[in-house]
Amino acid sequence: MFESGTIATLTINRPKALNALNRAVLEEIARVLRDVRHDSAVRVLIVTGAGDRAFVAGADIAAMAGMSTVEGLEFTRLGHRVMNTFEDLPIPVIAAVNGFALGGGLELALACDLIVASEKARFGQPEINLGIIPGFGGTQRLPHRIGHGRARELIMTGEMFDAPSALAWGLVSRVVAPDQLIAETRKLAEKIASKSGFTLRQAKATLRAAATMEEDAGLRFEQNAFGALFGSADQAEGMKAFVEKRAPQWRHR
Ligand code: HXC
Repeated sequence: MFESGTIATLTINRPKALNALNRAVLEEIARVLRDVRHDSAVRVLIVTGAGDRAFVAGADIAAMAGMSTVEGLEFTRLGHRVMNTFEDLPIPVIAAVNGFALGGGLELALACDLIVASEKARFGQPEINLGIIPGFGGTQRLPHRIGHGRARELIMTGEMFDAPSALAWGLVSRVVAPDQLIAETRKLAEKIASKSGFTLRQAKATLRAAATMEEDAGLRFEQNAFGALFGSADQAEGMKAFVEKRAPQWRHR
């Protein structure tokens, strides 16, 4: 389910199975993300789950139960492609976690730039209880986000954790009342969307470099991205507006 506009919302809509991700859902998400990428009107994407119980309760266990080695490999590859596509979107992506974000659901949230959680949210990588390990990127993105020690314990025990813990560990940016989740996430999205879309792209690209590059390469990447902003319409406008003591009128380029 996809609503477009300056702030677009992608809703994983399979509430009867707590929005579990099967192949069809993953392929549909990939198709929607292609549309988002090519829709220049969209400046922030919100991702959430349908219903009030789950963001995404993981990959579809019933669908995975009968998979062969080759099918399991293809499934993890499909999931990785989708998570990478989220991460590679040039615009900021915010996960609004309304309930369970388990296994592939936590991995999906980890592929987003920011996470806003309802007080009812429950997170975890319970794969160990199914005889598997996280397979949509969690073994890498979780330690990057919350540190190796905590990630190891969570992946090795499969234990769930709540929203206050997620906040304390830096996984989520804010925790809000369940009935305020979408409104508060939209407020955050609107604040971000009020900035220059062009500058935000550079900010996102350099922040991504912090996770994917060695520090000296990342620092050089920042210098190049910073330098490239000089000459953009919005760098000129942002600084001119400051000097003229007025609000900038962004042109997003
Ligand atoms: C398929 C799922 C599902 C899942 C829930 N359901 N999670 N179906 N895959 N991951 C279905 C249930 O079978 C049930 O369907 C309905 O959703 C409601 O769930 P209940 O279990 O009845 O609800 P409740 O008792 O409240 O328990 C909620 C829950 C539990 C704690 C979230 O559903 C649960 O433990 N789910 C599995 C969580 C998990 O292990 N996720 C990681 C999956 S592995 P029916 O038809 O009975 O009503 C993974 C790997 C990623 O994500 C990488 C792959 C390559």
